[in-house]
Amino acid sequence: MCGIIGYTGTLDAKKVIIDGLKELEYRGYDSAGIALMRKDQPEDPIYIMKEAGPVSVLEESTKGDEVASTCGIGHTRWATHGGVTDQNAHPHTTGRVTLIHNGIIENYRELINSYNLEDSLISETDSEVALRIIDYYYNKYQDPYRAIKKSVGIIRGSYSFCILFSNIPGKIFCIRNVSPLVAGVSEKGSLIASDLTALLPYTRDYFVLPEHTIAVLDPDGITLQDLEGNEVQPEMLHADWDVESVKKGGYPHFMLKEINEQPEAMHNTLKPRLQDGLPDFSEEGIPDSLFQDCREVCIIACGTANYAGMVGKSIMELILRIPVSVHIASEFRYEDPLIDDKTLCIVISQSGETIDTLEGMKIAMKKGAKTISIVNVKGSTIARESDYVLYTHAGPEISVASTKAYTVQLAALYLLACRMAYVRGVYDKEQASAFMNEVLMVVPVITEVLKNIVGMKHVSEKMMKAKDAFYIGRSLDYAFSLEGALKLKEISYVHAEAYPAGELKHGTIALIENGTPVVAIATQEKIYEKTISNVREVKARGAFVTLITKKGKEVGPEVCDIHLEIPDIADQFTVFPVAVMLQLIAYYTADGKGLDVDKPRNLAKSVTVE
Ligand code: AGP
Repeated sequence: MCGIIGYTGTLDAKKVIIDGLKELEYRGYDSAGIALMRKDQPEDPIYIMKEAGPVSVLEESTKGDEVASTCGIGHTRWATHGGVTDQNAHPHTTGRVTLIHNGIIENYRELINSYNLEDSLISETDSEVALRIIDYYYNKYQDPYRAIKKSVGIIRGSYSFCILFSNIPGKIFCIRNVSPLVAGVSEKGSLIASDLTALLPYTRDYFVLPEHTIAVLDPDGITLQDLEGNEVQPEMLHADWDVESVKKGGYPHFMLKEINEQPEAMHNTLKPRLQDGLPDFSEEGIPDSLFQDCREVCIIACGTANYAGMVGKSIMELILRIPVSVHIASEFRYEDPLIDDKTLCIVISQSGETIDTLEGMKIAMKKGAKTISIVNVKGSTIARESDYVLYTHAGPEISVASTKAYTVQLAALYLLACRMAYVRGVYDKEQASAFMNEVLMVVPVITEVLKNIVGMKHVSEKMMKAKDAFYIGRSLDYAFSLEGALKLKEISYVHAEAYPAGELKHGTIALIENGTPVVAIATQEKIYEKTISNVREVKARGAFVTLITKKGKEVGPEVCDIHLEIPDIADQFTVFPVAVMLQLIAYYTADGKGLDVDKPRNLAKSVTVE
């Protein structure tokens, strides 16, 4: 989820673009770059400065450079392909073409082969591949429109491109597919950006660039042309949002925005790792030997990442029939764990900086384990120090409460479990691709849940009045309840406890009083009746029960007060819609209590202290 800005007009382009990148930095901030079209150096018309680090580093580096320019493009990067390096930063340039990109090119490997680009690439990015394709066709046709049309006809994936052609001064060519671009014209010139925050200082009148439409910005305005060459009139909109609410995508909190970004985050994490339907980690350089040789798996993480690991454990043991252990990192460090060179250690961390998880990983490595980290923040310490890293592509997670990071961690674990099953001969090709297809099918299921929030709001009305609450389930449902309880307590401050449903009668049921909210999760068919009988026990003692089941389960008022249903999908995949339901219950409870949802008391987004 990168930040993109283009400007052409009468103002100093470097200042407009750097200021715009600062507004966009929340979208992705591991590197930044700028390309300016010089007015006074026809022999060297494009100035480029780009480097790893935040926009402030770029601003510092460009401070001394006097560039006479009123036209340029800028980019803040949230790496998906390729590490966090100066070379991988955008803009990318070759010949007369300079480009910035937001999105994921899914067929870039094919394009490298079919256009023999291997030897000419200087970065590790898919964006540079797109640049070279456009350059190839620009040289062939000497026409920017034809070059762009031809290129997007063969490029597959999500993209928003802003392109400078060095022999076409003052103009910026743009096109998008899925990834966002908004544009507007002010009396100071024309602008285009990933979102409104970069436009608002100049204009509140804007349009969303229609997909597969070529926009050409020049100082006096913007013209649009579809791929058949027809002129397109944009639908003009007026922004009455302030910058803060734009950064939240119009949502009241980052948490709700990030909850709603989960379908896209899941898609972006899964799709680039599927080749012919099978998990493929060749891009990550993760060898199959890692999965063949291990005797057991050990998962290390904290908080939500640990609870993702609990789900991963259940799925992996179910499929692989090898021991999988999950460890709270702060405990693991002092347990003298039973780890050796036959242990595959999976280290999960959104930030990649959690000190307990990092130190736990070091202990595992010292004992001979090979480590794969599942990390969201590119270039973070855990990602760099683990033997291998499988990045999640959730984009920046701003809210302290982890939501989209949790579901993409699960997606990464499902990818690993499936690859391991295939490599170890547990799954054949058909079984492995059928499994991954079911994971992919979860994406529209999550979208479905996000469209039907009334039930979760209803639960939150009860929850916000409570002091204590319980989340119960058995097997996988218990693993889901751990994350649900954490979400609720960390942002609404309602004391929530996750409990194995079958264990309640051994003491804890004594705490159930009249009106105690209990969220019961019963999505696992083989133990459904068992769980329901536990639910009856708490209901009989006066609990206010919210029951989450698959569609089609007949349950009466003697079982629950609120019945939430997820689509009828296989047991192994119910975690995804259930997770979204539990996130929304927590969110609406905290919001209903008027609390600071994105920055709960006492908490930090990344716990870098012990
Ligand atoms: C989750 O909502 C919390 N913010 C917290 O438990 C978090 O998951 C934990 O601190 C681990 O962080 P990490 O994934 O960045 O390592």
